[in-house]
Amino acid sequence: MTKPTDLSAWKSLADHQARLKGTTLAAHFAADPARFRNFSAKFGDIVLDYSKNGVTDVTMGLLFDLARESGIDAARAKLFGGDRINNTEGRPALHMALRAPAAHGGKGLDFAIDGKDVGPQVERELDLLCDFADEVRMGAFKGATGKRIRHIVNIGIGGSDLGPALIVDGLRADIGGKMQLDFVSNVDGAHLDLVLGRANPEKTLFIVASKTFTTAETMANAKAARKWLAGKLGEAAVDRHFVAVSTNIEAVTAFGINPERMFRFWDWVGGRYSLWSAIGLSIILAVGPHKFRDLLAGAAAVDRHFAEAPLSQNLPVILGLLQVWHRNFCGLGSQAILPYAQDLWRLPAYLQQLEMESNGKRVTREGQPVGWQTSPVIWGQAGTNGQHAFHQMLHQGSEPVPCDFILTARDRSAFPEQHQMLFANGLAQSAALAFGKSAEAVSAEMKAAGKSAADVAFLTPHRTFPGNRPSTTLLLPVLDPYHLGALIALYEHKVFVAATIWNINPFDQWGVELGKEMANALLAGQGGPADSSTAGLMALYDSYTHRK
Ligand code: F6P
Repeated sequence: MTKPTDLSAWKSLADHQARLKGTTLAAHFAADPARFRNFSAKFGDIVLDYSKNGVTDVTMGLLFDLARESGIDAARAKLFGGDRINNTEGRPALHMALRAPAAHGGKGLDFAIDGKDVGPQVERELDLLCDFADEVRMGAFKGATGKRIRHIVNIGIGGSDLGPALIVDGLRADIGGKMQLDFVSNVDGAHLDLVLGRANPEKTLFIVASKTFTTAETMANAKAARKWLAGKLGEAAVDRHFVAVSTNIEAVTAFGINPERMFRFWDWVGGRYSLWSAIGLSIILAVGPHKFRDLLAGAAAVDRHFAEAPLSQNLPVILGLLQVWHRNFCGLGSQAILPYAQDLWRLPAYLQQLEMESNGKRVTREGQPVGWQTSPVIWGQAGTNGQHAFHQMLHQGSEPVPCDFILTARDRSAFPEQHQMLFANGLAQSAALAFGKSAEAVSAEMKAAGKSAADVAFLTPHRTFPGNRPSTTLLLPVLDPYHLGALIALYEHKVFVAATIWNINPFDQWGVELGKEMANALLAGQGGPADSSTAGLMALYDSYTHRK
């Protein structure tokens, strides 16, 4: 496999970046009055505006060349064709098959593994999930004491938590009714404590969500929740109050959950790509089967778009290439995710796992050390809150941070009059980052306000905004199931595009193993800690915990 850095487009991009370096975003906009039109792309009614990045036609042309030279077409064909592209675990990555049955207008793609269509098993499981959710939502399925289920507690971590939690909050406007949803992930007993403190056992249904059903944190929380419930309602009640979502039927049975209340998915669904599977049960319970299918439909439409649209119009391709541009050619090490939508407050955390667990890799698919940077640090929070926290650094810090703004046009809250303010702030931030405020403008303003010459001279550098800071805006018409599904799928495929350029496997996560092993060893007291730092802290822990 040719190294990406040896590809001719990579070399051309490096030369091109060196030439482009001095050109500001203000100059790009001044040179091209149609820059917004020329540097934006549409998928249905979702708009990707990438005009506020330091790119030109030449940049984009070279980036598309890079994608082609990196084998994006063959990689996409393998992904959609069910090849075992997760080569360290010998598995396909076919999460797209989970949304195909819901594609609007019957326009779902077909998915097979080793020539066997996976559609029928996916549809069967989806039907089972939806039937169960209907029973619970309509009150046909009741708790052990005959009360209706009103509270769902999802116990899971990582991909078995972040996706469903993101969507349930993201679709707050679709939930309505009387169902309360909680997510317990942290092994810190405080998390379970917090949720059980507001739970009525008679009305609570626990979903133990774990692909492997061996994840230590989830098992500890599930056992504690089970003990709590059995203590309140008796052991026999566990049957009506616990369901499982997993690929591991033996472990589910051993835990004591009735296999009839187990919902399945498959090893070809990666944890961080699993919200579309039975892991989404909490979502279906919250918004109902119909809206869950709309969520799947939005993602299925993006799958088709990613598979078929030409590179220059392909939103995930453009997003992935912009990330490569910033990371590898502009040397920028982090990326901020800024949803101007409170209901998407969990998006940065969700994308941290999606991007950093997928592309935080240091060896190639073949196991050779990479000689180029891979995943940036992903961080952020919902606007406008971030403006009063870290935007100072975005505007005036020593290193630019490419930002993704996610805006919605129509509001669904009970206070729609505030939406204009929210939207205006999002737009203002991206414009301020791009165009800044020059020292001349700052000085002139202060002089006009009557400041002394000394004050003007002293304060001008502090009050100047350099601008020229890149950002991309995704505009959704509204935050509803279809568009949220589409948004998440756009990012999933973006991650795949970047991984393809970097020649890394985005579907494994060996980097999480060592810490798990070491924690287990410490817990079991095996061998004792080898280093003085761990030993010192352990000794302090022991002495503190024995204190009254
Ligand atoms: O910590 C790594 C990880 O394996 C994630 O990839 C996964 O989403 C999470 O743990 C939870 O795993 P499981 O669903 O098997 O409990």
